[in-house]
Formats: sequence, C-alpha cells, structure tokens
Amino acid sequence: MPNTALTDAAAFKQLQEHHQTALGWHMRELFSAQPDRFERMSLSAAGLLLDYSKNRIESSTLELLLSLARERQVEALRDAMFTGEKINFTEHRAVLHTALRTPAAQADAAALQVDGQHIAEDVQGVLSRIQSFTTRVRDGQWRGHTGKEITDIVNIGIGGSHLGPQMVCTALHNFTHPRLQSHFVSNVDGHDLDAVLADVNPETTLFIVASKTFTTQETMMNAQTARRWFLKHAKEAALALHFVAVSTNAQAVGAFGIDTANMFPFWDWVGGRYSVWSAIGLSIALAIGFDNFRAFLDGANAMDRHFREAPLESNMPVIQALIGIWNRNFFNSESLSIAPYHHNLRFFPAYLQQLDMESNGKRITRDGSAVEVATCPFIWGDVGTNGQHAFFQLLHQGTDITPIDFIAVLKPAHDIPQHHQVLLANCFAQSEAFMRGKQADEVRADLQQQGANEAELNMLLPHKTFNGNRPSNTILMQELTPATLGALIALYEHKTFVQGAIWGINSFDQWGVELGKVLAKTIHSELTGEAVPARHDASTNALIALAKQALG
Ligand code: F6P
Repeated sequence: MPNTALTDAAAFKQLQEHHQTALGWHMRELFSAQPDRFERMSLSAAGLLLDYSKNRIESSTLELLLSLARERQVEALRDAMFTGEKINFTEHRAVLHTALRTPAAQADAAALQVDGQHIAEDVQGVLSRIQSFTTRVRDGQWRGHTGKEITDIVNIGIGGSHLGPQMVCTALHNFTHPRLQSHFVSNVDGHDLDAVLADVNPETTLFIVASKTFTTQETMMNAQTARRWFLKHAKEAALALHFVAVSTNAQAVGAFGIDTANMFPFWDWVGGRYSVWSAIGLSIALAIGFDNFRAFLDGANAMDRHFREAPLESNMPVIQALIGIWNRNFFNSESLSIAPYHHNLRFFPAYLQQLDMESNGKRITRDGSAVEVATCPFIWGDVGTNGQHAFFQLLHQGTDITPIDFIAVLKPAHDIPQHHQVLLANCFAQSEAFMRGKQADEVRADLQQQGANEAELNMLLPHKTFNGNRPSNTILMQELTPATLGALIALYEHKTFVQGAIWGINSFDQWGVELGKVLAKTIHSELTGEAVPARHDASTNALIALAKQALG
C-alpha cells in the first residue's frame, strides 16, 4: 500500500486546484447546461440505482477522483481483502465477511484459506446448522420446556451483535414469521431488559446470547440476568431449550452454562460491525426463514461481485466513496446525513453509525503517522419524512453544508399506495430543493404575487432566499427485499472500505473503544465497594461519590 501521505498524491494536489474552480459552480447551472446529467451520473448494480448527479461535480472531477483511487491503490487493497490477506494488521486478522455470503458453488469460494484452513466448508457447515435449527423453531418442532411452541426470540448483544439483527429484522418486517416476535436487548441499563422480560413468557421464549468475544460487559450482564429470570420459572435442565449462543469463544460459552452444541460459531476474521452475515444473523434467519436469509446473503454477494469486477468508473461503492471524499476533504463537510424514506429502514442510520464511524473514525495511518486530512464524517439521520419536520431546516439554510444520502424504495410493502406517493414526492422534492435552493428573484416574484409591499418584501427577502447547491445522493430500489437490503448494506461496507483505503487507515480495528471499557470496570468495582476508590480527577471522584450515595 502507498506509504506516502494522501496530501502528497499528485491527484490530491490536482483536486485541490480543481476545487478552486468548483467553488464557482452552482448545480442549477450544471443541470441546465447538461440535460443528460442524470444518465451520465447515475449507475445501477445489484438491484440498486445510485443517482449522484446532485453533487458539485463535473466529469473532470470524477476523472481526478478516480486517479486518486488508483494512486492510493484501492484495487490492490480490495483484492487483498477478498483473497484473505491479513489487512487488519493491528489485530493480525484477515477481513473476510465477504466469504460469509459467497455461495459454495462460486468459483472463488473453495480457494479461500485463513492460516491454511479452507474456510468455505466451515461457513457452509454453520449455515446448514442455522438452516436446520431455524426451520425446527419456525415449524414448531423445537419447543419450550413445557412443550409449547416458541413465540418470542430475544437477541441479547450490543454493537455489531445487536445493530445488524435489529435493523434487518425491522427492515424485513413484512417477511417475518407471524408467530415469532423478535426482541433486542443491548443496553446494560436494566430498563431495556426489564421491559422485554415483562413482555415475554419463559415457557415460549428463546434467548440468543450474541457476542463475538463473549466477554462484553453489557451483554454478559444482560444474559446472566435473563438466565436468573428464567431459572425462577424453570429448572436448570430446561436452559438448553431456551438459551443458545453465537460467538467465536466456545470456552466462555461453556463457562456461561450454554451447551456448546447450542452454540453457533463464527471466526475472528469477521469484524463485529461486519458480522450480520455470520451466525450473528441467527435472529434474522429465525424471523424471516432460511431461504430469505440466503437471499439476503446473495444480495450482498451480488454487490461484492460488482465491487470486485466493475471498472472503477462504473463501480457503485467506489463512486459513492469518492464523492464522500470530495465533500469531506475538499468542501470540508463534517457530517453525512442518512435519510431513508422507508419506515422499516428506521434503524439504518444507527447501523451505519457503527459501520462507518467505528471503521473510519481514526487519526493514524497504516504506517503509524498522524493523518493530514479529515477522515470519517459524523454519520447521523432519521427517516423521511420525520427528519423534514425536525432538522432539515438546518440542512437547507444552516451555516454548515451537510451532504445527504436519500434512500427510497419505489414499491411499498403495504396496500395504501396514496401514502407512498406522498412519501416519494417528499423525498424527490427535498433533493431538488437542496440542489436548486430558492433564488432572490424567485422569492421576490412570489412575494409580489402575494401582494407584499416593498418594505415587507425587502424585510422578508433574505430570510426566504436560500442558495441551494447542497449535495445529495439518491439510492433507489424497486422493493425492499432480503436481496436489495443485502446489497444496500454491502454497498455501504465497500464505500467505507474505499474511503479507509484512500485515507490510508486500518478500517478494521477499534482500539478507541477499549479505554472506556477498562475504566468502567475499575469504577464499577469502586461503586460496588469491592475496591478502594482510585485517585481519579476531581470531577470523576465527585460523580462516583454521588452515585455511591444514591445507590447505597
Ligand atoms: O465496543 C466495540 C465492540 O467491540 C464492537 O466492535 C462490537 O461489535 C461490540 O463491541 C460487541 O462485541 P461482542 O460481539 O464481542 O460482544
């Protein structure tokens, strides 16, 4: 990989110059001058369409950005990832979530090895176990300890062991089994688990303890509490029918008291935030059935093949990543807003927060030096149209320019189409408004038509004028299905990967979250009186003392 600074790349310097010219462009004018702009600046892959025409770019911008990708050797790093090189070098790990969705029959599946181990067989073996287990639960053959069918699935996990299952089960709500209700507990705040336990019956509930490491404090505490709750209603022997585990750590699963025959494994070459495709997806397969889970994997695999094979010019994750780099590193956009216009995608922004920010929230490059440019923007958002009535004002007229990814689905999964027409109209209207803005002469004409006098008009003019020229992408799909959702997630995974490659950072470790975990353990033992209070700073000491007083 290049061990030169990004700012030394020839294409980066050319982009800096080019940016000076781009500052003079208004997208309104670009659209007026280029009637075929949509055709030239949109592309389709794996059931998704990406319209990137509403960005402050010209063909020449894209050419320079593509040169930057080549200079930063994105293709070589991509190939290294797909072939199992240990590109997560700070943890000495391969990065092979893509192997989890490669069908056994696909040519490259058999060749993949990690430390001399052919992994395709392991992957297919776990998938078969998921298939037979989920089929038994869904068909009512796997029953609770009193012989009743399972009605509730409680996934206990956090981060990557929670966000993916929750987001996907919600997104694919229309595909879920009518008898099975999915619940997700992640927060160590007892209010989370307490509310779920109040809702479920121990005779008919299946708990999935999902943790890659099986050491995560929040998950272990929730799992222990759920276990104690269950044992108030049933004997120890019944546990095996109600608790299963998903983990890479068989020893810890055994120590917790879950029979390893009821453990669905995965491997250290699957990062937590990339694990929804692994056995971490067990709750998804239970909810939507194995065939739909396979379709979900296939949708992601279709995007993988596109990412691997399409030339950079027509490569959707590459183009999306480069536009992000353009906005972040040249226009200095500090955040990216995600606006799904589909109620079932309401957890998608939160899912992307972990995927993108835990991957690229880094300031050290692969060679150990500090980055010289900004890396990952803040990722945030909410479903349209709710966001429009909350924070879109700032997006239209605030002092920061925030790019937006609009995500829309053409066909709804309900039969009240008039709602969908209004929803889509709002989505398209917003991206048009961000692009066009409202110029002073248009505001003036409106006000004159409304009969405003000159004083009133002059007072209102600056408030009602907005410049527009605010960038957005629109991602469209025909329907929200397991396959299109799989492709959508894989698109963002690869976009994140390409940006990490360009910034020269390791997108696959997460050392930053470790310090808080360690300190929390110390403070916890101080709060419970097991340890003598350590000498913290005055603020932390005072907060601990207040909590000790309140908790007794
Ligand atoms: O704290 C961050 C993290 O390590 C994530 O990367 C991971 O998804 C999450 O914690 C949960 O970890 P585990 O699956 O091991 O419980």
